[in-house]
Amino acid sequence: MQEIWIFGYGSLIWRPDFPFLESQPGNICHWSRRFWQGSHDHRGTENRPGRVLTLIASKGKRCCGLTYRVTKEVLAHLDHREKNGYERHEVWIQLPSKKVSGIVYIANQQNAAFLGEAPLEVIADQICQSEGPSGSNVEYLTKLATALKDLRIEDDHVFQLDALVRDKRGLHTN
Ligand code: SIN
Repeated sequence: MQEIWIFGYGSLIWRPDFPFLESQPGNICHWSRRFWQGSHDHRGTENRPGRVLTLIASKGKRCCGLTYRVTKEVLAHLDHREKNGYERHEVWIQLPSKKVSGIVYIANQQNAAFLGEAPLEVIADQICQSEGPSGSNVEYLTKLATALKDLRIEDDHVFQLDALVRDKRGLHTN
């Protein structure tokens, strides 16, 4: 049985819909989470794309997430799930007790669905208004923010957006 490590930083953290042999916290260097990728297949539609995460190269920054050890067969499922612009990248992943080489799915700036940077207010509005076959864009953001807090992972970009979206929806932030 051939095995591989997958680093998850977005929905792979809170919706691992695949079998895994183990999961551990992990981090990768020189990347930051950003809601800069458009989604018309999961959290939006062709006419009204939602915004989901990708990783942006950021020298000196560290992205913390969850790492899964899976059998190679799982890759076909993940390739399909992450098909809207994401590509596999090989990375070194720091686990609590060792460094392993593995794979992370990144949507780069050349992919057709890439939306890029925008003011947080604009991103928050777009998230509030978008819904797709997998559910609302708000769910994607709030479930991620909750999962990161549970894992004690700090992420200003995500938490600021979560607070803005809660505000817009009249919910209190704690
Ligand atoms: C990931 O979670 O690692 C990839 C991006 C996503 O599916 O949200």
